[in-house]
Amino acid sequence: MYTKLWLDYITDDNGTVVSFNDNLKDSPIVQNAVNELKSCAFLKNLNIVLDLINDGSLNDEGYRISTSVMGYKIEANTENGLIFGSFRFIALYRLNDGEDINVTEIPANKLRMLNHWDNMDGSIERGYSGDSFFFKDNDLIINERTRDYARILCSLGYNGVVINNVNVKGAACDLINDRFIDKVRDLSILFSSFGVKLYLSLNYAAPIDDPDVASADPLDDKVIRWWEKKFDEVYASVPKLGGFLVKADSEGRPGPFTYGRNQAEGANMLARAILRHGGIIIWRCFVYNCQQDWRDLKTDRARSAYDYFHDLDGSFEDNVVLQIKNGPMDFQIREPVTPLFGKMPNTNQMIEFQIAQEYTGQQRHVCYLIPWFKEVLEFETYATDKKGKGSRVRDVVSGETYGYRYSGMCAVTNTGNDDNWTGHDLAAANLYGFGRLSFDPSLGSEEIALEWIRLTFGNDGKVVNNILKILMMSWPAYEKYSAPLGIGWMVSPNQHYGPDPDGYEYSRWGTYHKATCKTIGLERNSEGTGYATLYNEPNASMYEKPETTPDELELFFHKLPYDYKLKSGKTVIQHIYDTHFEGAEDAEEMARLWDELQGLIDNDSFKRVFARFEHQVAHSKEWRDVINSYFYRKTLIEDEKGRPLY
Ligand code: GCU
Repeated sequence: MYTKLWLDYITDDNGTVVSFNDNLKDSPIVQNAVNELKSCAFLKNLNIVLDLINDGSLNDEGYRISTSVMGYKIEANTENGLIFGSFRFIALYRLNDGEDINVTEIPANKLRMLNHWDNMDGSIERGYSGDSFFFKDNDLIINERTRDYARILCSLGYNGVVINNVNVKGAACDLINDRFIDKVRDLSILFSSFGVKLYLSLNYAAPIDDPDVASADPLDDKVIRWWEKKFDEVYASVPKLGGFLVKADSEGRPGPFTYGRNQAEGANMLARAILRHGGIIIWRCFVYNCQQDWRDLKTDRARSAYDYFHDLDGSFEDNVVLQIKNGPMDFQIREPVTPLFGKMPNTNQMIEFQIAQEYTGQQRHVCYLIPWFKEVLEFETYATDKKGKGSRVRDVVSGETYGYRYSGMCAVTNTGNDDNWTGHDLAAANLYGFGRLSFDPSLGSEEIALEWIRLTFGNDGKVVNNILKILMMSWPAYEKYSAPLGIGWMVSPNQHYGPDPDGYEYSRWGTYHKATCKTIGLERNSEGTGYATLYNEPNASMYEKPETTPDELELFFHKLPYDYKLKSGKTVIQHIYDTHFEGAEDAEEMARLWDELQGLIDNDSFKRVFARFEHQVAHSKEWRDVINSYFYRKTLIEDEKGRPLY
């Protein structure tokens, strides 16, 4: 039986009385909120009022929770606000031990979404926690677990979910056909009763398969009419559908480029066709040439999203949102921020992160990603002169900087049908953390971790302290023992797990590190590929020179000799050796901290994580040795501290 994560508190009757406005008695959303409040074992014999009000300052999804002698009150402008507020009330009541609660919370981001890369056969692309709980044997499943998933999303204020892989293949194309449309409708109704909108990924090339159209040219009338008709049919059955996510012209997926059109022409064609139904088109910017020749020193994969999209600013329809990966490459343990943020004032943008740990330990290593995401969100783009107030990445994607109509945050999710949902029990901190962060990016990583730990494992001091330490050590540890200084990609190709320093060096994905016996890195300043110049000043100047580039990104931006001195005072090579020894030691320390929890937490959970740590400790040593010996044998430079380098 699967766990209910932080919502594992259901009881038959907690004696709580919930009252609400009469006109809400038929609302499925309010009904779900009331059920939750009346069946949470922690809320005993309370009086709670749910009150629909009219207060502009709360927006559509905000809520106010207050305490008086009469009991508790949850107020909101909408039913969605009431249910988000109800779940938050439960969390706060637990965290505050029933003390008075008086808060007003309004989500910073309009779109707060998860993207599933689930395939219809039940497999998950980059899934590390079992199979899909949405699909099995080319069918769509709706059951108790789906409902629990909707509760989990709602408890964090997520308001959108894309259920199928961006690489839409096979039966998934039928999600918008007669075959599955009734089930899609049922699912959209279930999710919307928890304040969450359902979205689908679509196959841009779909009309090619219709013999009467046989094209996907966005300017072809037949193609336009095909999509208009398709959206009419879909929305007639599924009026609550939020819209579609599109991966086009990317990694073998066809798109507008196939017809000599640009990305705006492709996105706009769909956006116009869906407009009358109120839907949106989320168009991914993960467009690059994955067949790059290693001799070509000017083509730089890091530039591609910028090169394909920047000049199109202002030419996208109002109901298109560009979904842009946090970094210019692909969810590495460390990358700079994609330079498109803060450079497209007239085009809706949202940021895409990945909590599926594709490149960050695949949910076999613990890697709490929220501190990393915080760094990205706090990055100052200098889009305006209001430094630190209006043009950090988080301001851009919340819509504050430019007043975007649609914008926000999404993550490729880390969930599957494993009993603990996320493969590694501690990976649930990323599912929790990303939801909280997209609701309120000003929250601290530790603050979020503490909430999650206490709601999941209880309040025992040692449990809370040790798990907090583990989580906060975990991302830096993974960075230390994997690829150094922002170079990325030293993983086994395709699988993206375990060390293989030259794995991608001889394939054509454009991720070359170009290590020789003297230097490593690709020059990305104005004399190199020019990537550094894509940022606003003073970021462009900062990245132009190694002396001003932050240590952790040195090898992303510059080609450097191994004896180059970093700001830390260490040479590049000594930094590599030191961090790899340290990282493996950190893994041992995290495992030790976990061992101390035996008997203090649920034994199944203890054992599961214990087993993962056994692997992580061994695997971090493998990383250490492979990377250190690679650089030692390339450079023949000894470790200053005389440790074995093999
Ligand atoms: C990565 C990942 C792919 C995925 C792609 C994407 O390249 O390895 O599996 O399809 O990202 O974001 O579309």
